[in-house]
Formats: sequence, C-alpha cells, structure tokens
Amino acid sequence: MDARLQLRVQRYGWDRASEVYDRAWSQPLEPAQNALLEMAALRPGDEVLEVACGSGLVTVRAAEAVGPSGRVVATDLSEGMIERAREALPAEMADRVTFERRDAEALGLDDEDFDVAIASLGLMYVPDPDAALREMARVLRPGGRAVASVWGERSACGWAEVFPIVDARVRTEVCPLFFQLGTGEALRDVMARAGFDDLAERRIDTTLHFPTAEAALEAAFVGGPVAMAYSRFEPEIREAVQREYLQSIEPFHATDGYRIPGTFVVAHGRRATP
Ligand SMILES: C[S@@+](CC[C@H](N)C(=O)[O-])C[C@H]1O[C@@H](n2cnc3c(N)ncnc32)[C@H](O)[C@@H]1O
Repeated sequence: MDARLQLRVQRYGWDRASEVYDRAWSQPLEPAQNALLEMAALRPGDEVLEVACGSGLVTVRAAEAVGPSGRVVATDLSEGMIERAREALPAEMADRVTFERRDAEALGLDDEDFDVAIASLGLMYVPDPDAALREMARVLRPGGRAVASVWGERSACGWAEVFPIVDARVRTEVCPLFFQLGTGEALRDVMARAGFDDLAERRIDTTLHFPTAEAALEAAFVGGPVAMAYSRFEPEIREAVQREYLQSIEPFHATDGYRIPGTFVVAHGRRATP
C-alpha cells in the first residue's frame, strides 16, 4: 500500500473507531499499557511526548505520574481520537496536558524538548516506523528515554485472522506491517537504527477477554484498525466477515465469552548523549 493511502486509511478509520475504542479495548489493552508505563518509569516533573495517544488512556496515567510540575504533549493522527481524549481529560490535568493532531513521522515539534517519549500500540500503523522513531529521538533531550509497545508476532495473536478476512474483500492490505514490529527483535532494532542505546525489550503474553460474541466483533471490526474498510462493506459482506471471524476465534470460546491469546512487545531505549 502506498504510504499516503495508508495514512488516510488510518486517520479516517480511527476517527470512526474513536466512538467505541474505549469500550472495546480499554480492558484488553491494560496489561500492555501497564508494562509500557512501568518501563517508562515516569517521575514528577518529567516532560513527556506521547505519540499515537488515541483516546488518552495512557495520557491520563502519564499526567498523573509527572504531576503538576510535569507536562505531557499527546499527539495522534486522528482528530476523532484527539477530541475523545480532550473530552475525557480530568479538569485538574488541563494545565499540564495538551492534545495535538500530529503525524508520528513528522511531528513538527522542537528539537530536544522532552525527557521521555512514549508510543503505546501505535507504531504498527505508521507506514515508516523508522521515521517515527527518528522523530522521537530528535525531540528528546540527550539522555532522554523512549518506550514503545506493539502487538507481538502474528502466530501468538489469536485474533489475527481479522486481517486476511478483511483484506480478501479490499483492494490493498489494511495494515501491511501490523505484526512486523512485534516479531523477533524488530522493535529493538528499529530503535537502535534511530540512534537509541541502553536498549531493553519485554514480551508480555495476555488473554484478551470479550464477554460476548458482539463485544469481540465490535472490537475487531468497529473499534480497531479495519474500521475504515468495514464501514464501507455492504450488509451481506459484513455478515460474511463476522461469520468468518467468529469461526477463527472459535477455539477461544469459553463459558464466559471469548478468551483470546494476545502478545505484546515493549521496548526501551535512551537517546545517546553526544
Ligand atoms: C490502538 S490505538 C492506541 C491508542 C493509545 N495509545 C492506547 O494505548 O490506547 C492506535 C492509534 O494510533 C494512531 N495512529 C495511527 N497512525 C498514526 C500516525 N501515523 N501518527 C500518529 N498516530 C497514528 C491512531 O489514530 C490510533 O489512535
């Protein structure tokens, strides 16, 4: 897929997904978000850039950690997500958090202006993750740290069939690089190429719980990366993709809904001091 098309699919797809994202994904993603925040070890007074902040689930926790003497600039490609995040921000955090619509590959922010840069589950959607990591490095002060999380390799993610099921009905793949960064040491490698050292990586295996088939379908098709393609399907195509997806997750059908394996990779790096 060409990069500009991918950006458009992501931007307007996440606009659509923003309405249901929290309901669909806040619980299943919490373990990965916890791991990212643990690795970031934010301290009072830290100045933090967040890339691909989405609806602000991590932003609020980062703002809590840096306290009133800190600052969080939270950025995302989707205006819909940014609006959600602004609405959800507790009023007492308004003076230390700003939400800005910015593309991870071209942040347009000053050099060396932050102590920490974080990106929770966003870099899989960026056409050129190397460029995004270089941007994170550029805006960090020397010695500043970056922490990023991505979904792990395809074979460990029980919901992965959603992509081929949707891709079979569209002209170009929806998320061509989705599992690439979480495979092997790819995330760590991209951080190294962007000039980070002191590299560390953690793999987290989780279970994504969806209490009903409807919740699993909403998360897969409406609240996530295929939202744009799905929104354009005719009703009979929607029914077909839903049926195929439910078949693909049938092995994870449990007495209390669906318990689907999910794996994440979280990596840490430090911007080298000159
Ligand atoms: C799965 S959500 C993650 C949101 C949030 N960080 C979290 O942990 O809940 C992925 C986000 O990446 C954003 N995104 C996709 N491509 C992007 C890009 N090129 N630049 C910035 N954000 C992007 C989407 O708009 C979406 O909000």
